[in-house]
Amino acid sequence: MPVVPMQQILKHALDNRYGVGAFNIVDSVTMDAVISAAAEAKSPVIVQVSVKTVKVMGARLIRLMFEEMANRVSIPATLHLDHCPDRKVIEDCIAAGWNSVLFDASKLSYEENLSQTKEVVALAHQHGVAVEGELEAVKGIEDGIGDEYGGPIVALDKAVAFIRETHIDSFAPGIGTAHGLYKGTPKINFERVSEIMNVEPIPLVLHGGTGLSDETFHELIKRGMPKVNISTQLKITLADAYRAYLEAHPTEYDPLKLLGAVKQQLVAQVETFLHTFGSVGKAA
Ligand code: 13P
Repeated sequence: MPVVPMQQILKHALDNRYGVGAFNIVDSVTMDAVISAAAEAKSPVIVQVSVKTVKVMGARLIRLMFEEMANRVSIPATLHLDHCPDRKVIEDCIAAGWNSVLFDASKLSYEENLSQTKEVVALAHQHGVAVEGELEAVKGIEDGIGDEYGGPIVALDKAVAFIRETHIDSFAPGIGTAHGLYKGTPKINFERVSEIMNVEPIPLVLHGGTGLSDETFHELIKRGMPKVNISTQLKITLADAYRAYLEAHPTEYDPLKLLGAVKQQLVAQVETFLHTFGSVGKAA
């Protein structure tokens, strides 16, 4: 059961109240580490990619690499495009056979976001691709997309109408989390998750996972957030692992040894998250 639709992964996780890590990869080493860690832990996994990375590597290369790596293991895995305001990039990923996209029109007015998200969903669903929708900008900048403050919270009835009218497959609500490193303890709006779930039980997406406490993850997953996004922590682990290896081995020039050491650190980091999110063994 290698590459599966996003909807299948999120439905099982929501029904059974565990979280699936959506890890942002930047190259073949990070993708390999994420898939290897999930395979080792018998956990479903979401390989997530920013627009910036798509622009460097190309949608087709990423898709081919993902398919090859996912086919070597026996866990459910799915390929998702992170925050994308650019309809052209969305179309490229759909054409290249990706499984899921986040159309991020949170900078647009409610009406414009609604109408454009409907168009994206219509195209995506024709190709069996899932769509994550967003109304309230998540705070912080993720690979050049987003802003420091995030948008205002939309009234519950309007948020629910957005979910129903667009037919999105998952929804990313603004609950006070932010991309990047938190300066203090974030004030999380747990109630918002329950309010939406009580009226419209759609898989909700937790953005800004880096730096949240285990208790916060557990509470949000329990309330209805089966997709848990992690980017910044993997970037930190990646850079620290390169630095540590090069400092410890100043005369070693075998790139495969360096990349192997980096992968090992990433695998350990991803496995820690998989345990925290409760997805270990869920692929069995
Ligand atoms: P972090 O960078 O805070 O882990 O957030 C990741 C994310 O939400 C990607 O969309």
